[in-house]
Amino acid sequence: MGINSRQEVDDLIKARYTLLYVVSSEERRVEDSLKSLAIEREFRLEAWCITQGFSGLANAPSPRDVRDPLKALEHIVGAEGKAVYILRDFHPFFQEPAIVRKLRDIASAFKRTKKTVIILSPVQKVPAELEKELSILDWDLPNRRDLEGLMKEMMPNVPEANRAAIQDDRAVQDKIIEAALGLTAVEAENVFAKSVVRTKTFDIPTILDEKKHIIRKSGILEYQEAAEKLGDVGGLEILKDWLQKRKHAFTSRARDFGLPLPKGILLIGVPGCGKSLTAKTIGALWQMPLLRLDVGKIFGGLVGSSEENIRKVLKTSEAIAPAVLWLDELEKGFSGTGSSNMSDGGTTSRVFGSFVTWLQEKTTPVFVIATANNVHQLPPELLRKGRFDEIFFVDLPARDERRSIFEIHIKKKGRDPAQFDLDKLTDASIEFSGAEIEQAVVAALYEAFDAGIELNTEGLLASIREIVPLAVTMKENIDNMREWAKTRARVASLSGPVARAKAAAAAAQHGGGGQSAFRKLDV
Ligand SMILES: Nc1ncnc2c1ncn2[C@@H]1O[C@H](COP(=O)(O)OP(=O)(O)OP(=O)(O)O)[C@@H](O)[C@H]1O
Ligand SMILES: [Mg+2]
Repeated sequence: MGINSRQEVDDLIKARYTLLYVVSSEERRVEDSLKSLAIEREFRLEAWCITQGFSGLANAPSPRDVRDPLKALEHIVGAEGKAVYILRDFHPFFQEPAIVRKLRDIASAFKRTKKTVIILSPVQKVPAELEKELSILDWDLPNRRDLEGLMKEMMPNVPEANRAAIQDDRAVQDKIIEAALGLTAVEAENVFAKSVVRTKTFDIPTILDEKKHIIRKSGILEYQEAAEKLGDVGGLEILKDWLQKRKHAFTSRARDFGLPLPKGILLIGVPGCGKSLTAKTIGALWQMPLLRLDVGKIFGGLVGSSEENIRKVLKTSEAIAPAVLWLDELEKGFSGTGSSNMSDGGTTSRVFGSFVTWLQEKTTPVFVIATANNVHQLPPELLRKGRFDEIFFVDLPARDERRSIFEIHIKKKGRDPAQFDLDKLTDASIEFSGAEIEQAVVAALYEAFDAGIELNTEGLLASIREIVPLAVTMKENIDNMREWAKTRARVASLSGPVARAKAAAAAAQHGGGGQSAFRKLDV
């Protein structure tokens, strides 16, 4: 991870940022960090809350019973010396104009003092008047070392008989710690406790399972099971090859070799052709957790909370890293950014902006895979160089690809593809997407079951005839997308019209010299 939160606060205080807003539900952990900073940098650290007034945390005088929030601010203004004041749960008082005004005064006046105010709250609620004055900062989730400490603290709860197996095995400890990454300290402690109660040890599946629940509860991220394998994807050889080659790209060996950290890819293309399917395989292929982000929901919340949400998502994925972050149906969230019909006061474009910045600058091993089927709804900034490693265009499957998709789905239904006339099926399903091929197989299976016969080629051909492929009704859209892809994306497979057009263009440019089509495509 880049710089941690403690370091960031240190820098901000030194740079005389006077009003900080720390978003974290872990008051204790944040305050402990600030306490150690106060001791190191020799400033006074006091915390205020509505029930107790001021209490000293480090280098501080005795407590002061000033509970009224406005009076508390006045007290801070009047105080001398080098000090940091933590205001716990101060956001409800932003309703009062006098408080907001006072904070604005503090923000500018304190630049000439050595005093800093830190608002610490589990939720982010910043009034518009203070947006410019406040620096918002999400506190890091516990890292490996923090979680190791927690695990060790809880070790005495594990029955002695099971303790040695953990204590003597570093690899097991690492796995336990890894399983808890992405949780807050309190959540991790609860999860560890639950595991000990249920299994009498730190049981990795139990911990992972609990983590999945907790992450899902947040409502925007989902921790996905590694259900699909790369072999379940038919065709798309170039894309699959690209992914295969990066199997070990997140290891330190790859760094030592001089390889850059892969950032991410964007898959754009025709609906039902395997974009989401491919995304689902990366977790298993690279042996990394796969986090699916509900793009629509990020923007579905209240205005303002979207920013908090996206930062939380990025924090969680960075804590779990190395991890794959999957943004499915990207256009649903990012459509309309920067357009004139914006109805949310610019939140969408701000959230989008912070995402793009993160994507470009991130140094943590979080690989982003974004999928979309409408290029024209995506903001052009996203497609610029430097954002994604590659933009792949996923077209309707070509002949040989349809053949392998039939094979995959026939096999999935427990039948032997060799028993079917795959050439006939392939010829009959021109312009079919992978999803439509799957649909044909399922429909034929129903028919066969109903008729009391075994699934056969005739049955499949009959159900193929019943389906009108989307490509027919969407012809214009698909043509537009292909036109776009010719110059702006890399093709995901060797066959198909865009690949052919690119090959022809390359051949023309090189005077049709003896290079193979493969070489020319691979640019
Ligand atoms: N290349 C393929 N190989 C095997 N199965 C496929 C392929 N493409 C699609 N399918 C089948 O169709 C289903 C739907 O495909 P998928 O969800 O990946 O489409 P998509 O490209 O993400 O479409 P959309 O743009 O509508 O989201 C898959 O779960 C799979 O069963
Ligand atoms: Mg999809």
